Amino acid sequence: MYETSINERKLSEEALERQIVYIEKCKEKVREISEELGRPLKCCTQTFGCQMNARDSEKLLGILEQIGYLPTEDEKEADIVLYNTCTVRENANLRVYGRLGHLNTMKKKNPHMIIALCGCMMQEPDVVEKIRTSYKFVDIVFGTFNIFKLAELLYSRWNSNGQVIDIWEETKEIVEDLPTQRKYPFKSGVNIMFGCNNFCSYCIVPYVRGREKSREPKYIIREIERLVADGVKEVMLLGQNVNSYGKNLESPVSFAELLKEVEQIEGLERIRFMTPHPKDLSDDLIAVMRDSKKICNHMHLPVQSGSSRLLKLMNRRYTKEHYLELVEKIRHEIPDVSLTTDIIVGFPGETEEDFEDTLDVVRKAKFDSAYTFIYSKRTGTPAASMDDQVPEDVVKNRFDRLLETVHETAHAISNRYEGKILPVLVEDIDDHDSSMVTARMTNNILVHFPGGKELIGTVVDVYMDECKGFYYMGHRA
Ligand code: 5AD
Ligand code: SF4
Repeated sequence: MYETSINERKLSEEALERQIVYIEKCKEKVREISEELGRPLKCCTQTFGCQMNARDSEKLLGILEQIGYLPTEDEKEADIVLYNTCTVRENANLRVYGRLGHLNTMKKKNPHMIIALCGCMMQEPDVVEKIRTSYKFVDIVFGTFNIFKLAELLYSRWNSNGQVIDIWEETKEIVEDLPTQRKYPFKSGVNIMFGCNNFCSYCIVPYVRGREKSREPKYIIREIERLVADGVKEVMLLGQNVNSYGKNLESPVSFAELLKEVEQIEGLERIRFMTPHPKDLSDDLIAVMRDSKKICNHMHLPVQSGSSRLLKLMNRRYTKEHYLELVEKIRHEIPDVSLTTDIIVGFPGETEEDFEDTLDVVRKAKFDSAYTFIYSKRTGTPAASMDDQVPEDVVKNRFDRLLETVHETAHAISNRYEGKILPVLVEDIDDHDSSMVTARMTNNILVHFPGGKELIGTVVDVYMDECKGFYYMGHRA
């Protein structure tokens, strides 16, 4: 049923083989430098932005570890510092520039230090130009389409005098089977698709991540099976718009169908996904969620605005009414579901009335929580050239009111699990009390309860004693 085009498969196999050769060459070089210095070499990777970037960073760290670098959290002691950047809002860019100044100072003390930048921000020509001319101490620059080339780029840097810059506009191939170094032993992100075709008018993602491209189901399934064999209990299926998964495959497969396949994987206990788009959230998907024993009881469904007028300008292709109907349908089919969302305040031309509509949706949809963002103008997007940018003080005032409303509505429903026994996946020792552990319910809410590190990575039943706002305190049932 699942076929890959022969050409595509051959290309990605060739690309992988080529990188394996470079990994070996880099290993040799790392060994040499390490002998010269009389110590092992260390790498520090920093991730900005979303879950996609976090997953890419695991692949980048996997390559660096294969080459022979030991990971460190401390940039000062690193021989290679790699920033995987984000550009979805301007703040993310400013943070990177701020930190580059510090890296320059560190590099003066450790001339072996290699500074590498990759990710979404590097897909912007202005950024690359600025780094080429004003940040000459940066050694390697690459983008979102060629992260698999890290070893080759590093090797080129060692064999050249200047910056190595390699930015691709687009890619047709998806390189499978790269080495990865997972951050958590018991849960993992799994890319099911890359890129986005939606062109929401404020969003830079389609320009920096390219057109939508789905992975073949068999590769996704194989990756998850391997993860499970390696101790993973929970996967998060990742895509910018998971509802359009599979449409461009040779044999199209829907996201709902993919979920059913993933459900069959023995030993896998929990499935999450991110992010669905309201415009094409299907009844099939809701039904699969309802009937599944493994898909978590949580849906993150970005609304962005409650105003149908603004939604049109945002090119979201749904209305306030449609969104609220969806919420009703989801709650009807999956009564205990936890709903979260993303909201942007201060989109160009947003009036008080538009904003009131957003507050209205928050009250009606009763989100468990919401990520709230101040609109950030991104060069090259249609919204950047729209008239009527909203004054800063007005945006700030609306942002505060939105947060207050989100807190009020979330608080009103947050204690609904009190007195219930729920299965939770234990993630870590509690930051504040080492006799306690922190665990996640299927609805993504955290609970703290007495326990030790032997519980980490296991699913246990916990009695929810008390809601403390955004988290619970409990004890083992
Ligand atoms: N300004 C503010 N927020 C944005 N997002 C995307 N682009 C912008 C922007 N230009 C938000 C959206 C999206 C989330 C990942 O980031 O809410 O869902
Ligand atoms: Fe950006 Fe819209 Fe694509 Fe999400 S769906 S990545 S907001 S363009």
